[in-house]
Amino acid sequence: MIYCRTDIHNFNINLYGKMCMDAIECLKSRRSVRNYKSGEIDKSIIEDIVDCGRLASSAMNLQPWQFVAITNRYMLSQLANITDHGKFIADASCCIAVFCEKVKYYLEDGSAATQNILLAARAHGLASCWIAGDKKPYVAEIAKLLGVPEKYTLISLIAIGYAESIPNPEKKSLNQVLHWEKF
Ligand SMILES: Cc1cc2nc3c(=O)[nH]c(=O)nc-3n(C[C@H](O)[C@H](O)[C@H](O)COP(=O)(O)O)c2cc1C
Repeated sequence: MIYCRTDIHNFNINLYGKMCMDAIECLKSRRSVRNYKSGEIDKSIIEDIVDCGRLASSAMNLQPWQFVAITNRYMLSQLANITDHGKFIADASCCIAVFCEKVKYYLEDGSAATQNILLAARAHGLASCWIAGDKKPYVAEIAKLLGVPEKYTLISLIAIGYAESIPNPEKKSLNQVLHWEKF
Protein backbone atom coordinates (compact mmCIF):
# COMPACT_ATOMS: atom_id res chain seq x y z
CA MET A 1 0.00 0.00 0.00
CA ILE A 2 1.31 3.46 -0.84
CA TYR A 3 1.05 6.07 1.86
CA CYS A 4 1.04 9.79 1.57
CA ARG A 5 2.20 11.28 4.86
CA THR A 6 0.23 14.13 6.38
CA ASP A 7 1.73 16.45 8.96
CA ILE A 8 -1.03 16.09 11.53
CA HIS A 9 -0.90 13.57 14.36
CA ASN A 10 1.09 10.97 12.42
CA PHE A 11 -1.86 9.91 10.33
CA ASN A 12 -1.48 8.87 6.70
CA ILE A 13 -3.88 8.87 3.81
CA ASN A 14 -3.98 5.46 2.15
CA LEU A 15 -4.66 4.71 -1.52
CA TYR A 16 -8.39 4.84 -0.91
CA GLY A 17 -8.23 8.30 0.60
CA LYS A 18 -8.84 6.99 4.11
CA MET A 19 -6.97 8.37 7.15
CA CYS A 20 -4.90 5.69 8.77
CA MET A 21 -1.98 5.30 11.14
CA ASP A 22 1.16 3.28 10.59
CA ALA A 23 0.99 0.11 12.73
CA ILE A 24 4.38 0.63 14.43
CA GLU A 25 3.54 4.26 15.15
CA CYS A 26 0.23 3.13 16.61
CA LEU A 27 1.88 0.53 18.86
CA LYS A 28 4.60 2.89 20.09
CA SER A 29 2.42 5.91 20.72
CA ARG A 30 -0.46 4.25 22.59
CA ARG A 31 -0.80 5.46 26.17
CA SER A 32 -3.38 4.92 28.89
CA VAL A 33 -5.58 7.98 29.06
CA ARG A 34 -7.79 8.65 32.09
CA ASN A 35 -9.01 12.19 31.33
CA TYR A 36 -11.63 12.52 28.63
CA LYS A 37 -13.44 15.32 26.86
CA SER A 38 -17.10 14.76 26.15
CA GLY A 39 -18.20 13.62 22.70
CA GLU A 40 -19.92 10.68 21.07
CA ILE A 41 -18.12 8.06 19.01
CA ASP A 42 -19.76 6.85 15.79
CA LYS A 43 -21.33 3.42 16.17
CA SER A 44 -19.43 2.27 13.06
CA ILE A 45 -16.12 3.13 14.73
CA ILE A 46 -17.02 1.25 17.91
CA GLU A 47 -17.98 -1.71 15.71
CA ASP A 48 -14.66 -1.54 13.90
CA ILE A 49 -12.76 -1.40 17.19
CA VAL A 50 -14.57 -4.49 18.49
CA ASP A 51 -14.05 -6.15 15.11
CA CYS A 52 -10.29 -5.77 15.71
CA GLY A 53 -10.79 -7.33 19.15
CA ARG A 54 -12.59 -10.38 17.85
CA LEU A 55 -9.84 -10.96 15.25
CA ALA A 56 -7.15 -11.38 17.94
CA SER A 57 -5.11 -14.52 18.28
CA SER A 58 -6.58 -17.16 20.60
CA ALA A 59 -5.31 -20.56 21.74
CA MET A 60 -6.63 -23.27 19.40
CA ASN A 61 -8.62 -20.50 17.72
CA LEU A 62 -11.36 -20.97 20.34
CA GLN A 63 -12.28 -17.27 20.30
CA PRO A 64 -13.92 -17.60 23.73
CA TRP A 65 -14.82 -13.91 23.91
CA GLN A 66 -17.94 -11.79 23.98
CA PHE A 67 -17.91 -7.99 24.04
CA VAL A 68 -20.39 -5.55 25.54
CA ALA A 69 -20.17 -1.94 24.30
CA ILE A 70 -21.66 0.55 26.74
CA THR A 71 -22.37 4.15 25.72
CA ASN A 72 -25.31 4.99 27.98
CA ARG A 73 -24.16 7.66 30.47
CA TYR A 74 -26.03 6.17 33.42
CA MET A 75 -24.58 2.72 32.74
CA LEU A 76 -21.09 4.21 32.36
CA SER A 77 -21.37 5.82 35.79
CA GLN A 78 -22.70 2.56 37.28
CA LEU A 79 -19.68 0.70 35.90
CA ALA A 80 -17.33 3.40 37.17
CA ASN A 81 -18.80 3.18 40.68
CA ILE A 82 -18.31 -0.57 40.85
CA THR A 83 -14.60 -0.44 40.00
CA ASP A 84 -11.82 0.66 42.36
CA HIS A 85 -9.39 2.12 39.81
CA GLY A 86 -11.77 2.91 36.97
CA LYS A 87 -13.78 5.89 38.20
CA PHE A 88 -12.88 7.77 34.99
CA ILE A 89 -15.11 5.37 33.02
CA ALA A 90 -17.87 7.81 33.97
CA ASP A 91 -16.29 10.46 31.68
CA ALA A 92 -15.50 8.15 28.75
CA SER A 93 -17.62 8.10 25.58
CA CYS A 94 -17.72 4.34 25.57
CA CYS A 95 -16.66 1.35 27.62
CA ILE A 96 -16.08 -2.05 26.10
CA ALA A 97 -16.33 -4.95 28.53
CA VAL A 98 -14.46 -8.06 27.42
CA PHE A 99 -15.75 -11.40 28.68
CA CYS A 100 -14.45 -14.90 28.02
CA GLU A 101 -15.67 -18.42 28.56
CA LYS A 102 -13.38 -20.10 31.09
CA VAL A 103 -11.40 -22.20 28.63
CA LYS A 104 -7.78 -23.11 29.47
CA TYR A 105 -6.20 -19.93 28.06
CA TYR A 106 -9.13 -17.60 28.66
CA LEU A 107 -6.99 -14.89 30.25
CA GLU A 108 -4.37 -14.85 27.48
CA ASP A 109 -7.11 -14.89 24.82
CA GLY A 110 -9.10 -12.12 26.45
CA SER A 111 -5.95 -10.07 27.02
CA ALA A 112 -4.98 -10.39 23.35
CA ALA A 113 -8.44 -9.13 22.37
CA THR A 114 -8.15 -6.31 24.90
CA GLN A 115 -4.80 -5.15 23.53
CA ASN A 116 -6.19 -5.23 19.97
CA ILE A 117 -9.03 -2.99 21.13
CA LEU A 118 -6.62 -0.48 22.75
CA LEU A 119 -4.61 -0.32 19.54
CA ALA A 120 -7.65 -0.09 17.28
CA ALA A 121 -8.92 2.82 19.36
CA ARG A 122 -5.54 4.53 18.96
CA ALA A 123 -5.61 3.90 15.21
CA HIS A 124 -8.99 5.65 15.10
CA GLY A 125 -7.48 8.66 16.89
CA LEU A 126 -9.20 7.80 20.16
CA ALA A 127 -7.79 7.45 23.66
CA SER A 128 -8.33 4.45 25.90
CA CYS A 129 -7.41 2.74 29.13
CA TRP A 130 -7.48 -0.91 30.21
CA ILE A 131 -9.25 -1.33 33.56
CA ALA A 132 -8.63 -4.61 35.35
CA GLY A 133 -11.39 -7.18 35.37
CA ASP A 134 -10.06 -10.68 35.98
CA LYS A 135 -9.05 -11.26 39.66
CA LYS A 136 -11.05 -8.24 40.82
CA PRO A 137 -13.79 -8.73 43.43
CA TYR A 138 -16.28 -6.91 41.18
CA VAL A 139 -16.16 -9.47 38.32
CA ALA A 140 -19.60 -10.95 39.15
CA GLU A 141 -21.20 -7.58 39.88
CA ILE A 142 -20.19 -6.21 36.46
CA ALA A 143 -21.44 -9.37 34.73
CA LYS A 144 -24.76 -9.07 36.56
CA LEU A 145 -25.14 -5.36 35.72
CA LEU A 146 -24.57 -6.14 32.03
CA GLY A 147 -26.79 -9.24 31.98
CA VAL A 148 -23.95 -11.54 30.94
CA PRO A 149 -24.61 -15.32 31.14
CA GLU A 150 -22.77 -17.10 33.98
CA LYS A 151 -20.41 -19.10 31.78
CA TYR A 152 -18.53 -15.90 30.87
CA THR A 153 -16.10 -14.10 33.14
CA LEU A 154 -14.89 -10.51 32.98
CA ILE A 155 -11.41 -10.00 31.51
CA SER A 156 -11.24 -6.24 31.21
CA LEU A 157 -13.12 -3.00 30.90
CA ILE A 158 -11.80 -0.60 28.28
CA ALA A 159 -12.63 3.09 28.58
CA ILE A 160 -12.57 4.85 25.21
CA GLY A 161 -12.97 8.53 24.48
CA TYR A 162 -11.41 11.79 23.37
CA ALA A 163 -8.22 12.61 25.29
CA GLU A 164 -8.19 15.68 27.49
CA SER A 165 -4.50 15.08 28.16
CA ILE A 166 -2.12 12.26 27.29
CA PRO A 167 0.29 11.08 30.00
CA ASN A 168 3.79 9.93 29.14
CA PRO A 169 4.81 7.37 31.78
CA GLU A 170 8.44 6.35 31.91
CA LYS A 171 9.20 3.15 30.04
CA LYS A 172 12.11 0.76 30.46
CA SER A 173 14.62 1.18 27.66
CA LEU A 174 15.17 -1.54 25.05
CA ASN A 175 18.62 -2.38 26.55
CA GLN A 176 17.05 -2.99 29.92
CA VAL A 177 14.75 -5.69 28.58
CA LEU A 178 16.24 -7.19 25.40
CA HIS A 179 18.76 -10.04 25.63
CA TRP A 180 20.23 -11.51 22.48
CA GLU A 181 20.60 -15.30 22.34
CA LYS A 182 20.98 -15.66 26.18
CA PHE A 183 19.76 -13.68 29.17
C1 LIG B 1 -3.95 -6.08 33.25
C2 LIG B 1 -4.01 -4.58 33.35
C3 LIG B 1 -4.84 -4.00 34.26
C4 LIG B 1 -4.93 -2.60 34.36
N1 LIG B 1 -5.82 -2.05 35.24
C5 LIG B 1 -5.92 -0.72 35.32
C6 LIG B 1 -6.90 -0.13 36.18
O1 LIG B 1 -7.69 -0.82 36.83
N2 LIG B 1 -6.98 1.22 36.22
C7 LIG B 1 -6.14 2.02 35.48
O2 LIG B 1 -6.25 3.24 35.58
N3 LIG B 1 -5.20 1.49 34.65
C8 LIG B 1 -5.09 0.15 34.55
N4 LIG B 1 -4.21 -0.41 33.67
C9 LIG B 1 -3.36 0.46 32.82
C10 LIG B 1 -1.93 0.54 33.36
O3 LIG B 1 -1.91 1.27 34.56
C11 LIG B 1 -1.02 1.18 32.29
O4 LIG B 1 -1.00 0.35 31.14
C12 LIG B 1 0.39 1.40 32.79
O5 LIG B 1 0.43 2.37 33.81
C13 LIG B 1 1.35 1.81 31.68
O6 LIG B 1 0.89 2.98 31.02
P1 LIG B 1 0.61 3.00 29.45
O7 LIG B 1 -0.58 2.10 29.19
O8 LIG B 1 0.31 4.43 29.14
O9 LIG B 1 1.81 2.48 28.75
C14 LIG B 1 -4.11 -1.79 33.53
C15 LIG B 1 -3.27 -2.40 32.60
C16 LIG B 1 -3.23 -3.77 32.49
C17 LIG B 1 -2.34 -4.40 31.44
